[in-house]
Amino acid sequence: MGATMCSHLLLLSFMLLSPIAFAAGVADTIGTGRNITDSETLVSADGTFTLGFFSPGVSTKRYLGIWFSVSDDAVCWVANGDRPINSNSGVLVISNTGSLLLLDGGGQIVWSTNSSGASSAEAQLLDNGNLVVRDRGSSTILWQSFDHPSNTLLSGMKLGKNIWTGAEWYLTSWRSGDDPSPGAYHRVLDTSGLPDLIVLQGHVRTYRTGPWNGRWFSGVPEVTTYMDLVTRQVTTSPGEISYGYTAKPGAPLSRVVLTETGMAKRLVWDAGTRMWQTFFQGPRDVCDAYGKCGAFGLCDAGAAAKSFCNCLTGFNPASPSAWSLRDTSGGCRRKVKLDCANGTTTDGFLLVRGVKLPDTHNATVNMSTTVEDCMARCLADCSCVAYAAADIQGGDVRSGCVMWRDDIIDLRYVDKGQDLYLRLAKSELPAPSPRRPFPTAPVVGASAATVAVVLIILVALFVIRRRRKPIISVFHSSSTVPSTEGHSAAPSQPSIGQGSPAPTVHSVELSFLKKVTNDFSIHNTIGRGGFSVVFEGNLPDGRKVAVKKLTQSSATDDGSEIFMREVKVMSNLKHENLAQLLAYCKEGNERILVYEYMKNRSLNIYIFASDRTRRALLNWEKRLEIIVGVAKGVAYLHGLSKEVIHRDLKPSNILLDDNWRAKIADFGTAKVFVDGQTNPTQVQTAGYTAPEYAAHGRLTLKCDVYSFGVVLLEIISGQRNNASPTLISDAQESWNQHKIKEDLLDAAVAQPEPETLLELERCVQIGLLCVQQSPADRTSMAEVVAMLTTNSSSSRIRQSDRQVIDGMAASSPLREANLSTQEDASGAQGDSIYLT
Ligand SMILES: *[C@@H]1O[C@H](CO)[C@@H](O)[C@H](O)[C@H]1NC(C)=O
Ligand SMILES: *[C@@H]1O[C@H](CO)[C@@H](O)[C@H](O)[C@H]1NC(C)=O
Ligand SMILES: *[C@@H]1O[C@H](CO)[C@@H](O)[C@H](O)[C@H]1NC(C)=O
Ligand SMILES: *[C@@H]1O[C@H](CO)[C@@H](O)[C@H](O)[C@H]1NC(C)=O
Ligand SMILES: *[C@@H]1O[C@H](CO)[C@@H](O)[C@H](O)[C@H]1NC(C)=O
Repeated sequence: MGATMCSHLLLLSFMLLSPIAFAAGVADTIGTGRNITDSETLVSADGTFTLGFFSPGVSTKRYLGIWFSVSDDAVCWVANGDRPINSNSGVLVISNTGSLLLLDGGGQIVWSTNSSGASSAEAQLLDNGNLVVRDRGSSTILWQSFDHPSNTLLSGMKLGKNIWTGAEWYLTSWRSGDDPSPGAYHRVLDTSGLPDLIVLQGHVRTYRTGPWNGRWFSGVPEVTTYMDLVTRQVTTSPGEISYGYTAKPGAPLSRVVLTETGMAKRLVWDAGTRMWQTFFQGPRDVCDAYGKCGAFGLCDAGAAAKSFCNCLTGFNPASPSAWSLRDTSGGCRRKVKLDCANGTTTDGFLLVRGVKLPDTHNATVNMSTTVEDCMARCLADCSCVAYAAADIQGGDVRSGCVMWRDDIIDLRYVDKGQDLYLRLAKSELPAPSPRRPFPTAPVVGASAATVAVVLIILVALFVIRRRRKPIISVFHSSSTVPSTEGHSAAPSQPSIGQGSPAPTVHSVELSFLKKVTNDFSIHNTIGRGGFSVVFEGNLPDGRKVAVKKLTQSSATDDGSEIFMREVKVMSNLKHENLAQLLAYCKEGNERILVYEYMKNRSLNIYIFASDRTRRALLNWEKRLEIIVGVAKGVAYLHGLSKEVIHRDLKPSNILLDDNWRAKIADFGTAKVFVDGQTNPTQVQTAGYTAPEYAAHGRLTLKCDVYSFGVVLLEIISGQRNNASPTLISDAQESWNQHKIKEDLLDAAVAQPEPETLLELERCVQIGLLCVQQSPADRTSMAEVVAMLTTNSSSSRIRQSDRQVIDGMAASSPLREANLSTQEDASGAQGDSIYLT
């Protein structure tokens, strides 16, 4: 077994290393008089991109497109998205007037570049995926595909505007996975105000990344976790305003796609697993929904209890009744009118820290001025309601000026967010005490001059605070946890529940972690999350560890507190199905967690593999063991006296050790545990989030139960719930029809033995109990474990459970069925399950 697996992996890695095989006669160029028929392709010189005819998904229509040679479903450009060819008779020719023409079987022009040039034009597919038409022997480009983007932005492409020609570059989503005709969404660079990447549905804004601040787009600071892969640039010149990125030499293939549902995703090709990893996707959570909290509202993804919205200080809900019904889109109204006329004002500014700057579409921008000047200008202008620095490239030395004159729209808290200065009447500002703790500090002014003085004092205080912080942090980590040899330390038994236990894992020095990860080298990278990068660490004794470097929260005092709380809780978790925290590091601004190393990486790379042999590696026995393992791990978290909610269970968070034992990971990080605190970040991964949490932020243990049910069904079917949103209903249907084997089981895995099939059927049933709409209807994890580990041959139980499930399908009126597992299950309580 071990040997065959090895050879599979060897074979795989060989396939990855070997260059793309070039078929005889494949070229990257066609010239006049030559043509490409349906069965032929052009391949770029280095083999990365292929141009040819394809049919997306289940469609049988033919389209001309360009795709990544390693992954032919990763189509990045389509010529005739809205005019498919209905047969295999399409042909691409280059006319003697310099146009590239796509002809159907009848010789009709289906698509044309409309370019014109000399008679000897040629078309070439370049190594960056750009298809160019030019005069032969001249470098003049007559037409290029990069100027006509489909739904994908590649390295070297641009979004934005050519000011001379008025041409615009933007992405258009496909209509569906099977239909590349123009869909509902566009992704454009809004060049009015500060450059901002916007997703539009028709003409309605649905999502913004936030304005460019010189380093990143204000609302997506997590891009800093992959700045080693791509360089992003925003060009503002008299000729053009554009955004684009370039891949760094040696970086893996990557692309940005606008999906059919209006999601912008950065995908990076993982050559090891032969899968596209999602490095970023936006919108990420409720607060990214454009204008969620209306004018002068402030969205806080952690404030589920307030339906995420607050009015800014000095403002009240415009419609309190709508607001109390959680319709916050009406926004907020100023409580006290501003006092400003004839060049005098008594207004001041309130500093709102850590936000994605509001929409700057109608804002006034001046890049060549200072923030102090900006304040003075805003104060002097009675219609100015807020200002902010436009450029933070200089770190603490900010520059440039953006001023808002109408409503403040689409404001939210983000990690590493920026500062917004909000104009308020004097009476609405907190008492002018400069010693008042951040994050909000008042700036009150009768005139620009006094404001400037106060501001200087505040800036000075701020700088002092900033400088003090790292010193405090270092002091903490070396005084409370003296040992620095903790990389091999095993934590002691869990002692959760006895007050607030001190961390039982040790801290390690940053210099040590730098050494074992080759200074956090890109070559040691084994994974990435929204706010972290995971590196392989090689200890001096030859063992490996996973070193998870957080990039979030490090900038705030809050974040640091959360990190230590997490270390505390996690160090007290010990279970064979949880990835073990071994050590941590908190030095300067660095926050690092060291975990056991998992040779077989994560579950998703097997169950969702495009390669059948890789899927088959996990046979049904292994899959069943993994399901039981995950269930036990989650039940352990839930059973602790301080109940721990994982909140982000999904196959990529389930690691597999040398023996294919499931270990739940990523619990705790960027999530807080339920002991009275509110949660700073709302965690949502499409497909896994329980409906009540997605809609109302209602977080209970039953949210994990739902995610577990989805994971279970995914393990069995090999389908992603978010890619095929009907997975749950499909599973339901195949259960009802008694056709689990035919319709649900992943066909890439060898057929199960009859006995195994019985267990798989029971698993599906349990999965369906976990994904019921109402949290109250879902079983507890303890019951799930009991059911999974109970001898399932009792047909009586099976019969009564079947009624439960059948009841779901029939949507029968409220009725009750008794799931009597307690007789067989040690320790589990029977439970009444109500169905609607
Ligand atoms: C394509 O080229 C082949 C030979 O290279 C030729 O026989 C055929 O007529 C061409 N088709 C078109 C539509 O030009
Ligand atoms: C070429 O011109 C035709 C007719 O003006 C137009 O319908 C088509 O969209 C143009 N094609 C491209 C690729 O611009
Ligand atoms: C501003 O000046 C105008 C005329 O110059 C005067 O009518 C008005 O009352 C002044 N407003 C204030 C607030 O002083
Ligand atoms: C900009 O101003 C126009 C005209 O007043 C308004 O319709 C639009 O909603 C404003 N846009 C934003 C983003 O504030
Ligand atoms: C921008 O600010 C600079 C410096 O204060 C000033 O000289 C310039 O006139 C401003 N530009 C505009 C368009 O207001």
